[in-house]
Amino acid sequence: MRRLVVGNWKMNGLSAPAAELARAVAAGAGDGPPDLVLCPPFTQIAAVAAILAGSTVAVGGQDCHPEPAGPHTGDISAPMLRDVGARYVILGHSERRAAHAENDGLVRMKAIAAARAGLIPIVCVGETEAERDEGRAEPVVASQVAGSLPEDFAGILAYEPVWAIGSGRTPKAGEIAGMHALIRARLVQAFGAGGKEMPILYGGSVKGANAASIMEIPEVGGGLIGGASLVAAEFLAIAAAARSFPGT
Ligand code: PGA
Repeated sequence: MRRLVVGNWKMNGLSAPAAELARAVAAGAGDGPPDLVLCPPFTQIAAVAAILAGSTVAVGGQDCHPEPAGPHTGDISAPMLRDVGARYVILGHSERRAAHAENDGLVRMKAIAAARAGLIPIVCVGETEAERDEGRAEPVVASQVAGSLPEDFAGILAYEPVWAIGSGRTPKAGEIAGMHALIRARLVQAFGAGGKEMPILYGGSVKGANAASIMEIPEVGGGLIGGASLVAAEFLAIAAAARSFPGT
């Protein structure tokens, strides 16, 4: 499988610049199997999906509610995302775990809701700097994997060390390899053969300049890109680096 490169625009994107960015990414993405995803804020999903239609770039949401509809003021459901053209949804990003008190159980319910609506969930896990300093990074990530994925999970994982997000700091290649190997082992244990195929993305300060050295790490199945996804040339440089390696 080709490596997947997912752009997480976070809370960035007014109409005009969002459309311009989506157009630039679509124009530079080229042909081939779809291996790029843009996740704009909810307000831009429909417009970005229209711009990306027919390109190799898919669209995703950044969160969804576990219920399909109902009295949940301000929330967006998985069927709503699907309805406006999303194919993917990021779930359990550390910014949501921290700012919205999302725990593994809630992320798991969201992953079930996403799959029910026909979306591919991208479930994020990752330790904080304090957890790493205390030597607890591996048990923390293992427990997030165990708690956040439903029994019939068939989506994508993203390993994002919280301290690497937006910081310009990345773990050493061996640390990424070690954590991806641990996640792979847990996925195989939980899902058998299916667990061997699930892409495990790395996220946290991936840029055009370091993308190749990250994409070549064993078990890295692509990247989840924040800041660098807001600049078309950077995002496309990461995509080019990802495409220069054979699938995992
Ligand atoms: P970053 O963010 O690439 O800006 O570090 C990654 C993410 O939060 O998904």
